[in-house]
Amino acid sequence: MMAANKTLLLLPGDGIGPEVMREARRVIDWMDRHRAVTFDITEDLVGGASNDARGVPLADSTIELAKTSDAVLFGAVGGAKWESLGFDKRPEIAILGLRRELGLFANLRPATVLDPLVDASTLKPEVVRGLDLMIVRESTGGAYFGEPRGIETLPDGSKRGVNTEVYTTAEIERVARVAFELARKRRRRVCSVEKSNVMESGLLWRQTVATLHARDYGDVELVNMYADNCAMQLVRNPRQFDVIVTTNLFGDLLSDLASMLTGSLGMLPSATLGALDSNGRRLALYEPIHGSAPDIAGKGIANPLAQILSFAMLLRYSFDLEAEARMIETAATRVLANGLRTPDVMAPGCAKVSTHVMGEAVLRELDKLAG
Ligand code: IPM
Ligand code: MG
Repeated sequence: MMAANKTLLLLPGDGIGPEVMREARRVIDWMDRHRAVTFDITEDLVGGASNDARGVPLADSTIELAKTSDAVLFGAVGGAKWESLGFDKRPEIAILGLRRELGLFANLRPATVLDPLVDASTLKPEVVRGLDLMIVRESTGGAYFGEPRGIETLPDGSKRGVNTEVYTTAEIERVARVAFELARKRRRRVCSVEKSNVMESGLLWRQTVATLHARDYGDVELVNMYADNCAMQLVRNPRQFDVIVTTNLFGDLLSDLASMLTGSLGMLPSATLGALDSNGRRLALYEPIHGSAPDIAGKGIANPLAQILSFAMLLRYSFDLEAEARMIETAATRVLANGLRTPDVMAPGCAKVSTHVMGEAVLRELDKLAG
């Protein structure tokens, strides 16, 4: 196989971001050495770290780097230190700005329960065993970006805060298409989630998804659900779902809910994809679902698996390296099956290990898989 040189931008960010990214970096280097793919790696600051160094959470030069890289691997941003800064200096601007500036409209958030961790869930094992669902959250529109927005002062001196939930046919169609395509590679079921009983934007969402379904995806089963019912169904019987497609704001809520079905936030990766361009290239960013966890930062105890599994998703969705992605997923599952645990997923009879030892164990399993 010919070696392909891929450019990667690593954005570790704040809190535990740099610690978990360090372990992912070792997995990247392992792939570089052992498989028919090589990486040119650039690192940059984002979030609070960028604020401290340059006075902005997301520099224009970082956006440029991200646009010209084949893929971006993001850590996490935020922390108490930056919470009192102005709204436009929030570390969160980094991830919101990258989604927006790179046009990353489809946020893929899997919730899978690995067998060795079935007891980590707060739900009964028989409810979550084998869970494997994917939330496709729209991520450049809706209430997060809709205009008008802002806080205005009324004539009587009181204030009014405004955000706007707004979706166009094109925005709905492109994210629904991603969901239907994914479902075709899975169990061929899509559940589209909105509040069309209350919101016009939700009604347009439902109608647009139905039209697209009838036109192009008759081989996939489509179910519609109101967002509140979906939250309830996710807890009642999560295995009824295969792919869920929903708006930015509902997706934010439902993906946090879904992640906790697994009981192990430190395990879950995500991907945010843009549109294919005329050269068949797609901008994409990969990040763990968890945040910067300032409370445990610097202690060397964070779980690096979500960051490492985000790199596996990167290999799969940006480079079509399915075998390599699976190797990483298998290695991570084996490490857990062998009883190694960071504190967040610690269980009786297991061995509590550090961030670094967990990363090391993944590398040793990769060595075995490579023979
Ligand atoms: C997420 C996060 C972000 C969001 C924050 C950090 C802006 O909660 O990725 O789900 O609300 O989208
Ligand atoms: Mg969120």
